[in-house]
Amino acid sequence: MSNKRKTPEELRSHRWYGVNDLRSFGHRSRTAQMGYSREEYAGKPVIAILNTWSEINPCHTHFKQRVEEVKRGIWQAGGFPIELPVQTLSEPFQKPTTMLYRNFLAMEVEETLRSYPADGVVLMGGCDKTTPALLMGAISVDLPAIFLPAGPMLNGNWNGVTLGSGSDTWKYWADLRAGKITEQDWKGVEGGIARSPGHCMTMGTASTMTSAAEALGFTLPGFASIPAPDSRHAQYAAKTGMRIVDMVWEDLKPSDILTRKSVDNAVTTCLALSGSTNAIVHMIALARRAGVDLTLAQYDEIARHTPVLANVRPTGKYLMEDFYYAGGLMAMLKELGERIDGTQRTVNGKTLGENIAEAQIFNDDVIRRRRNPVMPDTGLAVLRGNLAPDGAVIKPGAAEAHLHVHTGRAVVFKDYNDMAARIDSEELDVDENCVIVLQHAGPIGAPGMPEWGQLPIPQKILKKGVRDMLRISDARMSGTSYGACVLHVAPESFIGGPLALVQDGDMIELNVPERRLNVLISDEELARRKAAWVAPEPRFTRGYGAMHQMHVMQADKGCDFDFLQRDGAGGACASTGGEPEIH
Ligand code: FES
Repeated sequence: MSNKRKTPEELRSHRWYGVNDLRSFGHRSRTAQMGYSREEYAGKPVIAILNTWSEINPCHTHFKQRVEEVKRGIWQAGGFPIELPVQTLSEPFQKPTTMLYRNFLAMEVEETLRSYPADGVVLMGGCDKTTPALLMGAISVDLPAIFLPAGPMLNGNWNGVTLGSGSDTWKYWADLRAGKITEQDWKGVEGGIARSPGHCMTMGTASTMTSAAEALGFTLPGFASIPAPDSRHAQYAAKTGMRIVDMVWEDLKPSDILTRKSVDNAVTTCLALSGSTNAIVHMIALARRAGVDLTLAQYDEIARHTPVLANVRPTGKYLMEDFYYAGGLMAMLKELGERIDGTQRTVNGKTLGENIAEAQIFNDDVIRRRRNPVMPDTGLAVLRGNLAPDGAVIKPGAAEAHLHVHTGRAVVFKDYNDMAARIDSEELDVDENCVIVLQHAGPIGAPGMPEWGQLPIPQKILKKGVRDMLRISDARMSGTSYGACVLHVAPESFIGGPLALVQDGDMIELNVPERRLNVLISDEELARRKAAWVAPEPRFTRGYGAMHQMHVMQADKGCDFDFLQRDGAGGACASTGGEPEIH
């Protein structure tokens, strides 16, 4: 980025609209067909609005209205808005998992921006995978880009009880299975747990990743914490539209914003929020899109020194609406002090430090002071050992403390269907000290690494009043989930990782303080089992699934496609992805 403002002739869209040749005649005549006269767009930045709205995405219900507010801002600032719908990735509805489609949405973003006359882009997302996907695509293209976060929904409510997305679903489902609540109660929870537009309002993947986007510098300051139905959310949508027009004239691009230090800021943010474990995979993927090689070891290192300040479920007590009233993300970032690098540039043209300088905490039970954190340093732990040579993760704060150091007998399920069929059987040989193991739930095996990692506790154990057990898989877990769940085991079992070799009765050892995860059998026995292991058949022979299983990388590499990551350090992105533009 230089201080020089672009001229209209330097706009990328000039090649579509501004020159006097046969092709631009076609572009202008077809724009006239849509009812626009030349004065409405000539010489103006063309702003693509990539909208993930659809009638099956409840988290983005308000995007139909918000996009009009974004357009209003773009018109007022002298731009020309073009709304382009992209994949919706609706977390509750898309099977087997939205994660199977994250990279495809990122590709759609990249291809859409490259192939159409966009000078800048507003990215409208929020429901779990939409945020990383939109950012990954925009980073690869490297046109001026600003993110519009969907905002959390309002607190849930049932008979006066505050309900949190996901977390209370698991809680009351367990209570229903244990006979503690009635079917009628369960229906009441169903009706009250999602009361407004907006993404999940616990500290799930959505709240974590929209906050990470803000900490990275991709949203207007303060935007990520505003609840979706709040009138300030609509105001910020219009401001986002205004700002992207100036960003185009200033040529302020993702490569000016995403650096090693801004990535570290976002990781610190995720950890101080005690955010979703999914953020690890997404942060690694989007950093690598910019050539920043974020590793699990670096993540763990930051985790050891980052206090959890957000007292938000599932780790804490409150919800995102409370977090906003308590001062929101900016207040928490300010409280993190020197752990945040305030020199990093953001989309409003100021540094992160300038943006948060005036932020205040209004309720220091919701946003804790550093002298009184929710947890001092245990937001996340990266484990290694003979069961996970390339790493695995656990969120100790979401697990019962007595399980942080635990050795137990493995009870192994070979896949999800096997688990569903046997987990509640009275014949299952299991007690509360056992370790539940699920195989074939990883990036290739499931496929798409679904959020199955909060493996169910067998009903007969639940009936004893036990609410947590050690569970291990190569799956992910919803950020709204909780429990002693070891996740993202790499390499995954489907490609012959050691998790594939675990058998019923093996002893498994977890030691969170020492970051260890081992199956207590000899190297010779492991080698013998590996030699006898037979690779399973691929799950897909066609379509996105086949492409996914051919190219997806393992969890410790962010699960991006091998041909989309950018090698090398330094955070340099090539304009429009470095691919040739053809006119
Ligand atoms: Fe959309 Fe949770 S279902 S964020």
